[in-house]
Amino acid sequence: MVKYSLLSGLALLSAVGHTFGVSTAGIESLVARRLPEYTDKFEFELTDNVSQNSSSSYDEYQVQSTKGRIKVMASTLSGLNRGLYAYLTEVAQTDTYWTGSYLDVNGAPLPNESLSGSSFVKWRYYFNTVTFSYTSAFWSWEEWELQLDWLALRGVNLPLQWLGYEKILVDTFRHVGMTDDQISTFLSGPGFQAWNRFGNIQGSWNGTLPLAWVNDQFELGKKVASRMVELGMTPVMPAFTGFVPRAFVDIHNSSNLVNSSQWNGFPERNTYDTLLEPQAPMFAEMQKYFITQQKKDFGNISSVYTLDQFNELTPASGDASYLKATANSTIESLKAVDPNAVWMMQGWLFFNLESFWTNDRIEAFLSGVTNNQDMLILDLYSEVVPQWQRTKSYFQKSWIWCYLHDFGGNMGLYGNMHNETVVPVETQGKSDSMVGMGVTMEGQEGNEITYDLVLDQAWSKTPVETASWVQAWAKRRYQGKSTTPVLQAWEILRTSVYSNNDTNVPAVPRSLVVVEPATSGLLTSGPRQTQPTVISYDPKVLIKAWRLLVEAATKNPKLLSIAPFHHDLTDVTRQVLANAVIPAYNDLISAWNATSSTGTSVQTAGKKLIQIVATLDKVLYTDPDFMLAKYIKDAVANAHSKSSQAYFEYNLKNQVTLWGPLGEINDYAAKEWAGLVGQYYQVRWQMFIDYLLKTTPDTYNSSSFESDIYNFEQNWNSQRWSGPWTTRGNLLEIIKSSTVLKELA
Ligand SMILES: *[C@@H]1O[C@H](CO)[C@@H](O)[C@H](O)[C@H]1NC(C)=O
Ligand SMILES: *[C@@H]1O[C@H](CO)[C@@H](O)[C@H](O)[C@H]1NC(C)=O
Ligand SMILES: *[C@@H]1O[C@H](CO)[C@@H](O)[C@H](O)[C@H]1NC(C)=O
Ligand SMILES: *[C@@H]1O[C@H](CO)[C@@H](O)[C@H](O)[C@H]1NC(C)=O
Ligand SMILES: *[C@@H]1O[C@H](CO)[C@@H](O)[C@H](O)[C@H]1NC(C)=O
Ligand SMILES: *[C@@H]1O[C@H](CO)[C@@H](O)[C@H](O)[C@H]1NC(C)=O
Ligand SMILES: *[C@@H]1O[C@H](CO)[C@@H](O)[C@H](O)[C@H]1NC(C)=O
Ligand SMILES: *[C@@H]1O[C@H](CO)[C@@H](O)[C@H](O)[C@H]1NC(C)=O
Ligand SMILES: *[C@@H]1O[C@H](CO)[C@@H](O)[C@H](O)[C@H]1NC(C)=O
Ligand SMILES: *[C@@H]1O[C@H](CO)[C@@H](O)[C@H](O)[C@H]1NC(C)=O
Ligand SMILES: *[C@@H]1O[C@H](CO)[C@@H](O)[C@H](O)[C@H]1NC(C)=O
Ligand SMILES: *[C@@H]1O[C@H](CO)[C@@H](O)[C@H](O)[C@H]1NC(C)=O
Repeated sequence: MVKYSLLSGLALLSAVGHTFGVSTAGIESLVARRLPEYTDKFEFELTDNVSQNSSSSYDEYQVQSTKGRIKVMASTLSGLNRGLYAYLTEVAQTDTYWTGSYLDVNGAPLPNESLSGSSFVKWRYYFNTVTFSYTSAFWSWEEWELQLDWLALRGVNLPLQWLGYEKILVDTFRHVGMTDDQISTFLSGPGFQAWNRFGNIQGSWNGTLPLAWVNDQFELGKKVASRMVELGMTPVMPAFTGFVPRAFVDIHNSSNLVNSSQWNGFPERNTYDTLLEPQAPMFAEMQKYFITQQKKDFGNISSVYTLDQFNELTPASGDASYLKATANSTIESLKAVDPNAVWMMQGWLFFNLESFWTNDRIEAFLSGVTNNQDMLILDLYSEVVPQWQRTKSYFQKSWIWCYLHDFGGNMGLYGNMHNETVVPVETQGKSDSMVGMGVTMEGQEGNEITYDLVLDQAWSKTPVETASWVQAWAKRRYQGKSTTPVLQAWEILRTSVYSNNDTNVPAVPRSLVVVEPATSGLLTSGPRQTQPTVISYDPKVLIKAWRLLVEAATKNPKLLSIAPFHHDLTDVTRQVLANAVIPAYNDLISAWNATSSTGTSVQTAGKKLIQIVATLDKVLYTDPDFMLAKYIKDAVANAHSKSSQAYFEYNLKNQVTLWGPLGEINDYAAKEWAGLVGQYYQVRWQMFIDYLLKTTPDTYNSSSFESDIYNFEQNWNSQRWSGPWTTRGNLLEIIKSSTVLKELA
């Protein structure tokens, strides 16, 4: 289906897919990286006639065996990657994962029959702006390489690429005459850059962002962007958004300088970002400098630009003419320097600030851009609260169906496999301007299976049949060692945690363990509750799946040496314990609140709760993926000095705990990580229980307790980690010997 015939915007960009003169070196390097012993076994060819169906505008591949080799043919580089993936997963039964690359092609068997496929949508998009802070802020090049190979193999062709943005931005500010002192007060720390880029916050707290970081990220960004291109992806690059340091007014006073709104209760110095409105001639000048400089440094690699002026912010005016002019000046500023420019924006604002963004205002704003293909809107949370219907497919602007799933990198087991498969297919039949499928999780943190599913769906015109798909996935993931109980466990997981039907639990649930203790109000759910603390399935069903995994590991202990299995058993055990905290907490509160309360019952209930949390910490310490120390190590590795080490460690910890100088969005990005659970959450719960023991419902003073807790939280944030750096304990032994887990089983 050719959706657009106009050779402009996105249609022009897709012309990059034409095979003439395009090199297959990128995928050959991928094979050399991941399958070094098999480089001679594969042959890659770009061809325009993969299926002799020239009317298809999507990426197609075919895999055949030719003269003892595996030949992959495709119409695009992304098609070649996906063709290789089809071979690896369907024939060789192997895969790559976030937890590592485990490709083992086992002699590289030749395919008996040819494999073929084509993408169901033109664009396969990946990343949310905030993923760069929640998940990848401190990633090394090796971690990026694994992620990019993972993306390429799954056929992603439009990834977001923010690394290096601050360097170009600083250059742009210097170019207009700002001093480094003026600029440095604006930039936020590594764990918070996403919201600085969005104009939600400004400045850093507890230290200043080192300039060395800005330069290092720039060097890393150049490598990441060029690897993306080599692998056939079009990186979505930043642009000048208009947010400027406060002192900008001293060098250029203008009626187009406005203060953005306050964000999430941040103190004045760290929010109300100054926006240079795009209507200002100065904006166009800075845009020109920014993009020209970026093209010089990164190459002329993309014309898709990410630019969000109003993410979680209220625009200075709601007048239709203002909104239209803002959008028009924005696209004009991009077109003036790159005639092929496509403006991509996250559609989150239309959900988040629905009361401001009426349909009339959305229509006015979008009408500032004449050509529908000059914009690309991410319908950010399509699996739960799609906005494309109410906006009549964004008034015909190109848009992408996106899977959000996870807020703040929270860690509950969760998915909605029906809405990840059936719904995008139905949607594509209903909206002509839907041009892609994407993954826009806030944090990439667990539930890897659901991300694989969404990206597989992007390569199937009919909904993926999840029952057999999950079985095949589980077999591959454990390198062919999955026994019957393992497969039974995954079938249970598929129909429970991964088949949420409850609109009151619309995203990954957050465990009660990580929520600041209180006597009420902790158990939450609701249609707009992005971080519910209740679960939508019967916890007994999860225990059944967990027992099957334990049984499999007991019979075949070798399973535990397969890293993804160890990871998954740790994760399921984590969830079993997290679920057990809910009744333990309810028991504690009712014991304390009972008129006949003697204190003994509070003590007993409190002990039980602490036991569960302590067991959780022990379980998590057995697996490197679940250790705070691992993430601290990553963060500190970016530092060039002792003070930078402390600053980066603080950034990491502050983001997963207080999230802001004074705990502005406390626990939003909470993690169940070893060390964090034992030294932070457990301590908070113990303080709470001790306080309950000293009080009755009549004398309980929440503000007094909260200020004690807050002091503890700030102190913990500012101290350096002194706990263990490596895993300890044996997962199966802990499961077998723990009183808490024995009782649950
Ligand atoms: C594509 O076209 C070329 C030249 O016409 C032909 O040799 C080749 O077999 C075709 N490939 C496929 C997959 O049909
Ligand atoms: C060619 O592709 C179009 C669009 O995907 C499809 O409708 C048609 O059935 C295909 N034709 C053949 C011969 O495969
Ligand atoms: C190919 O077919 C043979 C014979 O049917 C079978 O033994 C073998 O497993 C198949 N190989 C693959 C890779 O499917
Ligand atoms: C900027 O201009 C406004 C309006 O003319 C004026 O009120 C304000 O004092 C000026 N600010 C600075 C820092 O010059
Ligand atoms: C923007 O906010 C800063 C800090 O609160 C204030 O000093 C400045 O006057 C404000 N500017 C405008 C135009 O409201
Ligand atoms: C960038 O590449 C496009 C074609 O892909 C071309 O039209 C444009 O002129 C190039 N821009 C620069 C600055 O080289
Ligand atoms: C900006 O607005 C003008 C006037 O409505 C329009 O002609 C032009 O096409 C718009 N620019 C873009 C790039 O859409
Ligand atoms: C699944 O998607 C449909 C269609 O958009 C929506 O009505 C429904 O509420 C979603 N289900 C859940 C559980 O979010
Ligand atoms: C949701 O509904 C589907 C289909 O009816 C079912 O298979 C699944 O088990 C349900 N999910 C839960 C958590 O009950
Ligand atoms: C304590 O019990 C009373 C009376 O049953 C009830 O109204 C109140 O909500 C309970 N408080 C808590 C914190 O559970
Ligand atoms: C509760 O504790 C706060 C903080 O310690 C204190 O200021 C307040 O007076 C206390 N309230 C009562 C009713 O004791
Ligand atoms: C960080 O700043 C807050 C608020 O100013 C302060 O309470 C805390 O002690 C500081 N922590 C460190 C590590 O400097």
